[in-house]
Amino acid sequence: MAASPADIALPVHAEITDDELTEIGTILSMWRGINMSAYKDKCMKRRVAIRMRSTRCHDAAEYCNLLRQSPLELDLLQKALTIHVSQFFRNPSMFDKLREEVLPGIFSSCVKTGAGKLRFWCLGCAGGEEPFSLAILLKEDFSKEMRRVQTVIHGTDIDAETIRTAQQGEYVEERIKGVPASLKDRYFRRNGAGFRLVPEIREMVTFMRGDITRTKEYLTSDLVVCRNTLIYFARPDQEKILHGIADILPSGGILVLGKSETLVGDVRQRYEAVCPVERIYRRL
Ligand SMILES: C[S@@+](CC[C@H](N)C(=O)[O-])C[C@H]1O[C@@H](n2cnc3c(N)ncnc32)[C@H](O)[C@@H]1O
Repeated sequence: MAASPADIALPVHAEITDDELTEIGTILSMWRGINMSAYKDKCMKRRVAIRMRSTRCHDAAEYCNLLRQSPLELDLLQKALTIHVSQFFRNPSMFDKLREEVLPGIFSSCVKTGAGKLRFWCLGCAGGEEPFSLAILLKEDFSKEMRRVQTVIHGTDIDAETIRTAQQGEYVEERIKGVPASLKDRYFRRNGAGFRLVPEIREMVTFMRGDITRTKEYLTSDLVVCRNTLIYFARPDQEKILHGIADILPSGGILVLGKSETLVGDVRQRYEAVCPVERIYRRL
């Protein structure tokens, strides 16, 4: 395919220097409260370059000026930097593992200790597909246990708009194609061109805007799911985030990273593997 004039004028991430990326980061942090410094530079430069091409800016200085003047462009850049791809029951084998081998133990030890309450947290939850999948799984297979144990699920994401989507609980067909037909009939209602989750599932999850690099502000959780989000961060920041998560897990608490990510650095000493294939870990 022939390159458009804009492609020729701005080859991908060739023009953005580290200083310019820092300046763009400062603008985003000032106006949107997003700390870009932890994200992988190469990944950020590529996405900024795509926005520069779309807005026909010839260099980073021109793009910085546009960002200072246009709240819309700030929104579009933020969207480009935080990818919200998700799906209900994404990587179903992970949910099978939770159902069969992890959740029974979590509920039974909660009953044994008399704690009476469990908190599950999905970090980087995009439009809510992941925490709602967990809610459906719990409703289907652990209703009896939930009568004895108060169970709360939180979903947090850096992007305020994606959190608003999650709160609506409305999805296009593509996002729910992984939902088995019987569950789709039970828990989704047709709504125009898409589908809406029934209130009994929507009410099981509380959504908030939240930054994965600031888990110090989070409550202790018995299970943390953090999938397909760490990949955007540079390795030293991944380590910091994983330490932050370990700090909010009690001993015996579970971390689910999923197949794209793994424990890195000395934080490995704070966990033991429960399922190396699904990258499920227990806090020591
Ligand atoms: C690819 S989605 C993953 C969604 C879901 N966990 C899954 O696996 O299907 C990555 C999500 O991480 C969010 N994200 C990126 N940086 C973040 C940060 N610093 N704090 C919290 N969420 C962040 C993005 O906004 C995006 O919704």
